[in-house]
Amino acid sequence: MTMRAVDIIAKKRDGQALSAEEIDFFIQGYARDEIPDYQAAAWCMAVLLRGMTHEETTALTLSMARSGKQLDLSDVAPLVADKHSTGGVGDKVTMALGPVVAAAGQPVGKMSGRGLGFSGGTLDKLESIPGWSAERSEQEFKQQIREIGLVVAGQTRELVPADRKLYALRDVTATVPSLPLIASSVMSKKIAAGANVILLDVKVGVGAFMETLEDAVELAETMVAIGRLAGRRVAARVTDMNQPLGRAVGNALEVKEALATLRGEGPPDFTELILTEAAHLLMMCERADDEQSARRAVEETLSSGTALEKFRAFVAAQGGDPAVVDEPDRLLPQAPVQQDLLSPRAGYLSAVNARVFGMTTVHLGGGRLRKGDPIDRSVGVVLHAKIGDYVEKGQPLCTIHARNEADAAQAAEELLAAYDWSEQPVSPPALIKRTIQPDDIP
Ligand code: URA
Repeated sequence: MTMRAVDIIAKKRDGQALSAEEIDFFIQGYARDEIPDYQAAAWCMAVLLRGMTHEETTALTLSMARSGKQLDLSDVAPLVADKHSTGGVGDKVTMALGPVVAAAGQPVGKMSGRGLGFSGGTLDKLESIPGWSAERSEQEFKQQIREIGLVVAGQTRELVPADRKLYALRDVTATVPSLPLIASSVMSKKIAAGANVILLDVKVGVGAFMETLEDAVELAETMVAIGRLAGRRVAARVTDMNQPLGRAVGNALEVKEALATLRGEGPPDFTELILTEAAHLLMMCERADDEQSARRAVEETLSSGTALEKFRAFVAAQGGDPAVVDEPDRLLPQAPVQQDLLSPRAGYLSAVNARVFGMTTVHLGGGRLRKGDPIDRSVGVVLHAKIGDYVEKGQPLCTIHARNEADAAQAAEELLAAYDWSEQPVSPPALIKRTIQPDDIP
């Protein structure tokens, strides 16, 4: 009997497990434009509501990876490293971690995504740099790893077309926060892009797609297990996303903060995450004998300026203006209106809701509400206080970067709801909640 997309949607809607053949029929059909967006959207919603078995998620991942070309990087370097985040607010890790790891001598080849729902995307951020392009052919991708040791590319038509289409569709159909859809999206890209050592940063909290530790750990374990099955060295860190990471939220603002971090002047929480994850990747790539020496090697890339120089070379290689490293204020887009949000009361901050910051940045124009919407890279928010900090009444909590006064006023109203205060001292949330190694999984 010939398969039909509508029957596959109905089967999932009714809570049944799909066979690998049915999943492959649907995914390859969608990637080839034979199945339309509306059926794929209905299918994504059915998967979100009904879930998938471990076998289905694995079949989905492998089918997505097969929807296009799969890179073989063995002729480029014995080990190529990659790191991938499941998405958060203020998550500019790739822009700082890539240069640090590459400057420590370990080649990094990465395929990144765009903003998704309330979470920003690395490509949207890097495109704030005049001239910088995410488009790399296979040959350019490989050549850049060889010559500079660092490449961050977008999904080409050739690599994982199924994810490229599904990712944009999920963004605007409220079908992002689904464990099988996230796991398959991340791991299909990782498998197809060819890196053999992969560190996953699974975000957990109100500003992440996984809000509970239990769900985040399950997602992390699922992805590590899929990676192992595909013959890759994969580990995962579950990290906090209750408040924005670092201080900047918004495309160009985050590039500026990543640059400051590479200069050794970044926010402490963000800097710590970068150094820890970079050291972990070096260990996974057997570039260091123990944690201390890995940590020393990554710290050295900041203090010596080699990480910053790596960023410069990387920007230039992808067509961007390398002077952005020295003059970010002149070269990155700046919003015309900058307005402080003042604290209406004194106290210790007990909540700085990351999701509200992400959504407000989308409303300011920094993210998409419909597939293909243009975005304004200049807008966003810069935080001046985070959970655990004491603030006086009238002290600036954050600065809103907006296109006009009306947008800034609307953002101020939204952001006020992100905060909560306590009379008692509050400890900041621990940044790293869990580390998952392949051996931890049965
Ligand atoms: N990152 C991805 O690449 N895909 C998702 O679905 C979520 C985060």
